[in-house]
Amino acid sequence: MSQALSPSFRSHTCGQLRADDIGSVVKLAGWVGNYRDHGNLVFIDLRDREGITQVTFDADLCGQDVLEQARKLRGEWCIGVDGKVIKRTGKSDEDKKNEKLATGEIEVMASSLTVFSESPTPPFQINDPKVNEERRLESRYLDLRRPKMQEILRTRSKAMQAIRRVLDDHGFLEVETPYLTRATPEGARDFLVPSRLSPGAFYALPQSPQIFKQMLMVGGCDKYMQIARCFRDEDPRADRQAEFTQLDLEMSFVTQEDVLAVTEDVVRAVWRETIGEDLPAQIPHMTYDEAVNKYGSDRPDLRFDMPLFDVTDIGQKTDFKVFSAAPMVKCIVVDGGAAMTRKETDSLADWAKGYGAKGLAVTKVVDGKLDTGVAKFLEPVTAELLERTGAKDGDLLAFAADRPRIVHKVLGELRLKIAEDRGIAPKTKFAWTWVVDFPAFDEDVKTGRLTYTHHPFTALADEADVEKLSSTDKATLLGIKSVGYDLVVNGSELGGGSIRIHRYDVQKKVLAALGIDEERQQQNFGFLLEALKFGAPPHGGIALGLDRVIMVLLGLDNIRDVIAFPKTQSGTDLLFDAPARVDDAQLADVHVKSIAEVDE
Ligand code: AMO
Ligand code: AMP
Repeated sequence: MSQALSPSFRSHTCGQLRADDIGSVVKLAGWVGNYRDHGNLVFIDLRDREGITQVTFDADLCGQDVLEQARKLRGEWCIGVDGKVIKRTGKSDEDKKNEKLATGEIEVMASSLTVFSESPTPPFQINDPKVNEERRLESRYLDLRRPKMQEILRTRSKAMQAIRRVLDDHGFLEVETPYLTRATPEGARDFLVPSRLSPGAFYALPQSPQIFKQMLMVGGCDKYMQIARCFRDEDPRADRQAEFTQLDLEMSFVTQEDVLAVTEDVVRAVWRETIGEDLPAQIPHMTYDEAVNKYGSDRPDLRFDMPLFDVTDIGQKTDFKVFSAAPMVKCIVVDGGAAMTRKETDSLADWAKGYGAKGLAVTKVVDGKLDTGVAKFLEPVTAELLERTGAKDGDLLAFAADRPRIVHKVLGELRLKIAEDRGIAPKTKFAWTWVVDFPAFDEDVKTGRLTYTHHPFTALADEADVEKLSSTDKATLLGIKSVGYDLVVNGSELGGGSIRIHRYDVQKKVLAALGIDEERQQQNFGFLLEALKFGAPPHGGIALGLDRVIMVLLGLDNIRDVIAFPKTQSGTDLLFDAPARVDDAQLADVHVKSIAEVDE
């Protein structure tokens, strides 16, 4: 049952030895972890990709020379040993079995030792869980030796194999699309690459293969998939990198249900084959409107309830100006929240202001009545409020009154904060939902201009709405639904996609509705528009953020942990020290002059 990584030196990997192997003669190779020198006995933890085995050097068995050599071993030296697997010896029961190790019932009595290479004292202990991230990233090659990092890389690799297998079974073609391309309108800033052969012109790195995959459908590929790198020049966050990976797919002659079904097959296989978890038989659907109205977010975390209650009508009946004059009033009920102190609720109000709230009104339910906070204003509507929200003694009500966008943002975030702060136990490990029926258009918060919700190639849900595209009334346009969908797990948007517009005339109308004039249509989308004229099939697809898939799968909260060589929050690669300045000759080659003032 040997799964040795390389047959030339090793017979086994360190992590795979078990009681069954007792008596076997083995060859292991790896890195020295903990070591203890007892004079006539030397113990080392030998670590490789699969785990750790205790190796014991005993002069009686390996000879004095090998023992002396073993006494010189230090952390992170790379070595090989020959030895025999024995049942772990030791005086106490604890010594006899190390519960913390999968190989804890055995040890290897070494007969010989080969030092492949030495190492100075590493900048951090490989088994120290609390190493500063900057140091980890500076010496990522050491950081990757940590068993946790190996587990993540292994999981990621397994996930990719599962994805390819499932999609191959479904008849998908894996097609690579270019990295040197022109800007695609995905909403973020582009990374630009200057061209040597076309002076003054620039390639852009793709924000996604969106237009290429649509071209592949026009090109008759029918079913396309790619594990594609995407580049978006935006500030990195806990779940966002400037360079990230998508499982991208597209299919012709399909409906939304077909795309969702294939996607479910993919994630089902990934979850099963990496962590052995089964998905619900069918992932439930929730409309965008319901998600936003009930949970304040288009990516609701459904591991707990705590819905938003619309109490606008009740607020209007009060003399409380903040409520009666607001376009919308909603609240959440914090179970047991009446125990919160004034200081705690005040600090919540301050926190809410960070999300654009003007305040956060609170009150408590005590003996069937409202008490403290804004209780005095709500007295006449107490019964109605309690009935609407189901709040009971000991609960706290938290209200936001404002425009819907702010009310939803504040209470949507508050829900998550309360769940986190109060340690609300999740109902399930993974709460899956498809969010469907996205609006086609959105309003840019800053400029008030009409933008697209997903991207401008998303098909409209109702053919009849094509007529509405020429409307100058913003509300009419904002009311148009699209065939866009997102896959959401535990409040994280794992993926998004849509059925696309495949008709030239409709695509032009959507671009026009977005305020893109004829000239810019030709300049930015001319090649797509042209392709749509030549018998474009109806098509649709989706892209899953592979990094986020691995994060959610393993319950990690830092995207950098699931990427072998990630960038920091400021977009730098600490290992390669990138980005870096280049010399003037190199710049001249690509016809670029830097105007940045940089300290030498
Ligand atoms: P979208 O922009 O929604 O859609 O991206 C799809 C998924 O990619 C992941 N993602 C990211 N992951 C890490 N870092 C980032 N900066 C980042 N940005 C996005 C998310 C997201 O759900 N072409 C369309 C897909 C389509 O319509 O088929 C697209 O790229 O998990
Ligand atoms: P004020 O009348 O401004 O002193 O506010 C009374 C209470 O209502 C305070 O607890 C505020 O935090 C809260 N409050 C003020 N504006 C809003 C708002 N837009 N939404 C919710 N609560 C608010």
